[in-house]
Amino acid sequence: MKIRICKDYEEVSKAAAEIVRERLAAHPDTVLGLATGSTPVGMYERLAKMCQEGRISFREAKSFNLDEYVGIAIDHPESYHSFMGRHLFDHVDFAPGASRVPWTNGENPLKDCAEYDGAVSAAGGIDLQILGIGSNGHIAFNEPADDFTEETHVTELNESTIRDNARFFNSIAEVPTSAMTVGMGVIMKAKEILIMATGANKADAVYRMVHGGITPWVPASVLRLHPNVTLLLDEAAASKIDRGQIQS
Ligand code: PGA
Repeated sequence: MKIRICKDYEEVSKAAAEIVRERLAAHPDTVLGLATGSTPVGMYERLAKMCQEGRISFREAKSFNLDEYVGIAIDHPESYHSFMGRHLFDHVDFAPGASRVPWTNGENPLKDCAEYDGAVSAAGGIDLQILGIGSNGHIAFNEPADDFTEETHVTELNESTIRDNARFFNSIAEVPTSAMTVGMGVIMKAKEILIMATGANKADAVYRMVHGGITPWVPASVLRLHPNVTLLLDEAAASKIDRGQIQS
C-alpha cells in the first residue's frame, strides 16, 4: 500500500482528481468504481471543472457506484443516485447508461445484486476503484462482521454508520437501515484502488487499517492484500499512524 500524506482536504482532493485525470488520459475507456460520502466531493468538484474546461472526458468511460440505500426513493435528495447526479453526473459527459448506481426496490434483491455483479463483470471489472473509509473501518457498506461477503448484497447498516450518516438527514430516524452494496470481491478485483481519508474522526480507522490485524472486523484492512492501492490522507487522518513504517 502506497501512503501519501497531504496537508489538508483540498490537497487530498486535488491529488485524487489528478490520478483520475491521468488514468482517463491514458485509457479513455477506463471503468471507474465510484464512491459517495463527504470525502470524494472535493475530487468530484475538480473533475467536473476539468471536464467543463475540456481537460478531461468521460465519453468513453464507464462507472459503477459502490452502494445505495434500500427503502429510499431514487429521487430523494440523499439517495446516492441524487448525490452522484448533483456532484458529478450532471456536470460531466458520460454516455447515457454508462454510469450505474446499485438499485433494488427490495422485492427481489438477490436478482438485482446478481445483475449488478454481472454488469461489472461484463464491463471487464473495475480499473480504478475510488473508496472512502467509515469511522468503523467499513468500505462501501461492507460493515465489520465475522466474514467478508464477496458478492453484491443487501446488508443492515451498523449503528455507528447510521449515526455517522444522520448528518445528511433531518433526524436519525430518517436514515435508512439497510443498503445494497458491492461485496469485497468487486473491490479486491479492481486493478487499482485509490482510498481517501480526511479529518481527525478517521484517524482511528486509518490506524487500524494500516497497522492492525487483517480482519473482516476492519474491512479496510484487507486492502493491504491488494497489490495496487494508494491511500491518500490529510494530516488529521494520518495523525495516529507510525510514519517511520510507511513505504510511500
Ligand atoms: P464519508 O463516508 O466520506 O462521508 O466520511 C465514508 C464512508 O462511510 O465510506
